[in-house]
Amino acid sequence: MILIDGKLTAQQIKNEIRAEVDEIRSHGGRAPHLVAILVGNNGASETYVGNKIKSCAEVGFKSTLLRFEETFSEENLLREIHQLNEDEHVDGFIVQLPLPAHINVDLVTEAILPSKDVDGFHPINLGRMTEQMPSYVPATPKGIMQLLERYNIPTKGKHCVVIGRSNIVGTPVSILLSRNTNPGNCTVTLTHSHTSNLKEITLQADIIVAALGKPYFLTADMVKEGAVVIDVGMTRVPAPELKQGFRLAGDVDFAGVSSKCSYITPVPGGVGPMTIVGLLQNTLLAARHRIYPEHVSR
Ligand code: GUN
Repeated sequence: MILIDGKLTAQQIKNEIRAEVDEIRSHGGRAPHLVAILVGNNGASETYVGNKIKSCAEVGFKSTLLRFEETFSEENLLREIHQLNEDEHVDGFIVQLPLPAHINVDLVTEAILPSKDVDGFHPINLGRMTEQMPSYVPATPKGIMQLLERYNIPTKGKHCVVIGRSNIVGTPVSILLSRNTNPGNCTVTLTHSHTSNLKEITLQADIIVAALGKPYFLTADMVKEGAVVIDVGMTRVPAPELKQGFRLAGDVDFAGVSSKCSYITPVPGGVGPMTIVGLLQNTLLAARHRIYPEHVSR
């Protein structure tokens, strides 16, 4: 069994980004600038956004965190987004999800200019991704694809079973894995809460992407000998013995599953660090106008 070290791979890619930023600056260019909007006080979101801001500093990006109260109105949030769309000193921005219930997430997502949508959540970016046109690819699926690539894990002709169909992970990763690319060219089965006989399906999988958000859901009896297992889960479960009072739990029962796998990602230290790197890479693409050349970016 080979442990896929997302932390190490993320660090390598951060070094590459840092070198590119240094190169831009040595020619008189300015540092890429990412803005993150956080509404409310969700503990996990605060941690994620904090890590994103910290990572920006590590690679030499400028970053700005805009924090608003839980009661911040949808109208005011949309106004902030319009301002960021117009601000030529901002290359890309994200609105951390989930948002408070009184805010319509679809309205917010569609208000972001596609050329600044470094999360890749805007329907135009998702559509372009599906059509194999240049687009911002959502950070977690992008990170998963890069782990498969950098570990030279064969995907062509393999049966990949994705568990979970979220807009952020399951749906886009199933599209990426089925495309005519490398990594890619998988036969993909996208499973979800209404799938019957899930175990029968996962037992046929060469690659499993577990992205349903249920701690320790995938157990050894559901996994074929030699399978590749990618664990996207990151649920906080109570752990009174720890100072912070919780631990991060993956969707995979690592203790049971790992001995059956050819490759597996741990939690933490697997997909998580790669998600942040995906966002940094998208921000660099935005700063360089690589996805939407300047003359068509509005
Ligand atoms: N919430 C969980 N994952 C993400 C992400 O990748 N981007 C944003 N904006 N919110 C999230």
